[in-house]
Amino acid sequence: MFKKYDYSHIISSNDQKEAISLVYNLIKTGNWCKSVPKFQTYSDIHKYSELDIFKKTFLQSCYDYLNINYNAKILMWCYKDNIFNIKKKNLWHSHYDISWGENKISGIYYLKNPLKEGTKFQNFTLEANPYTWYIYPSNLLHRPPNTKSFVNRYTLAADFYY
Ligand SMILES: [Fe+2]
Repeated sequence: MFKKYDYSHIISSNDQKEAISLVYNLIKTGNWCKSVPKFQTYSDIHKYSELDIFKKTFLQSCYDYLNINYNAKILMWCYKDNIFNIKKKNLWHSHYDISWGENKISGIYYLKNPLKEGTKFQNFTLEANPYTWYIYPSNLLHRPPNTKSFVNRYTLAADFYY
């Protein structure tokens, strides 16, 4: 089940700009994950101070979703895309592999989404409201939309292990 958490009262546009600037520079300097479709950071961006507010609000969303409150392992990364970005792979994927034996929920946050293009799930397209964490079970298949945006679209994704 999907739940959404609106943080427009906590996260500012400047917070988003700082996070985008960090991601832009990481990718520009080659610090992006070569084993997944371009261009995605490594899954540790929550360790940078520019992402503090996004880490905090993602954790809060997960606590609310699961009705728990404890420190858990998380992963967080950012996907940068635009109309010129060539995708060679089938982009459908989930964040869950039953063989790992892990319970996970996942989150999506649109840092910058000029055309308000939401993530595609099997039977629907996610809305793409700003300042919002969308939390869902990690086994749901999804893929990025085929963006028509000429300027960069930045999406945060995260996993919470419990
Ligand atoms: Fe994903």
